[in-house]
Amino acid sequence: MRGRGMKLFAAMLLICIVYNTRVSAQEAEVAPTPPMGWNSWNHFRNKVEDATIRAQADAMVSSGMRDAGYVYVNIDDTWQGERDATGVIHPNSKFPDMKALADYVHSKGLKLGIYSSPGAKTCAKFEGSLGHEEQDAKTYAAWGVDYLKYDLCGLREQMKAAPSPEAAHQIMVDAYIKMRDALRRTGRPIVYSLCQYGNDAVWRWGRDVGGNLWRTTGDISDRYASMSQIGFSQAGLARFAGPGHWNDPDMLEVGNGGMNTEEYRTHMSLWAILAAPLLAGNDLQTMTPETLSLLTNREVIAIDQDKAGEQGDRVWVEGPIEIWVRRLADRSKAVGVFNRHPSPMTTSVDFSKLGFSAPVHATDVWLNKDLGAISAPYRVEIPGHGVVLLRVKQ
Ligand code: GLA
Repeated sequence: MRGRGMKLFAAMLLICIVYNTRVSAQEAEVAPTPPMGWNSWNHFRNKVEDATIRAQADAMVSSGMRDAGYVYVNIDDTWQGERDATGVIHPNSKFPDMKALADYVHSKGLKLGIYSSPGAKTCAKFEGSLGHEEQDAKTYAAWGVDYLKYDLCGLREQMKAAPSPEAAHQIMVDAYIKMRDALRRTGRPIVYSLCQYGNDAVWRWGRDVGGNLWRTTGDISDRYASMSQIGFSQAGLARFAGPGHWNDPDMLEVGNGGMNTEEYRTHMSLWAILAAPLLAGNDLQTMTPETLSLLTNREVIAIDQDKAGEQGDRVWVEGPIEIWVRRLADRSKAVGVFNRHPSPMTTSVDFSKLGFSAPVHATDVWLNKDLGAISAPYRVEIPGHGVVLLRVKQ
């Protein structure tokens, strides 16, 4: 009896190990660091078509963004047309040939992303995947899709009809698992991006349903109030993220015109400390050199993409002044000193309170300036709504 018990235990352990290794392999393959790319929604909304995607892919290469690490070109909502008699989804007239579009994007050394919903309809009331998950996953794989954003929207109808909050939650979890399994069965590596606005503390279960990233909040808009509310509300979520599975505080608004340079610098710095996906949301064809330099600052991207994959967190707050710290693979730390007040503020950063003993060696990331060895608390002046971003090592 004892021998049989041991065998059963060993078999179960093996199943667990195999399962976990498979999950980690998918995660390590598609999202070892937070995905970087571009998405059509923030700027183009429903005015996205084949030509838009090709032009953005071209601009991603010619601007140098691809070489800075931006890879995914993601079509958001409004590409969907009708299903045919066999249930296969077809794009609408804005996208005459999805396979040809994917080939084009791939020929540029980029990857293609697409969007659907577990409900019958998407948020923009286009066709969702409900009841067609297996078929849709196969179609995406056949087109050459590399990334799927799966947006709850229409499924809320089913959830509202559920007898209890627990039953509603289960409907959502089952729907995300269903698409995860369908995507895996295609055999194509596809990034799986969950979008359900942070409901039911998705960070606690997003990884278990196969998410490589999950939106932690409602939609961002191109205003400081929106971006900062979302970004600074991420405190405490760090422990749920890691290589292959990331918290997603939504796409970038950098360059869309609704914030000033200091505010966009805050956006980039905070997203980098948060190990957030960096999905540009502006028109790459018409962006200014300043927007490009904000999006492609190598040191900021290096922080975001740091291979240890440890999300940073808030360590200190004094009214509108917040200090956020992210540990990096080389044992240095990214230190963001943020000012949420609209006018400038000064503060002193006491590195001994951030786990360092004097002296430290610091660089000002945005100024690209070596600050040398610092022994005393370091006095910084932070512009209104701005940030001083440091990389500090012992
Ligand atoms: C939701 C999502 C957005 C976008 C739109 C498209 O609002 O949160 O990111 O995908 O749907 O309709």
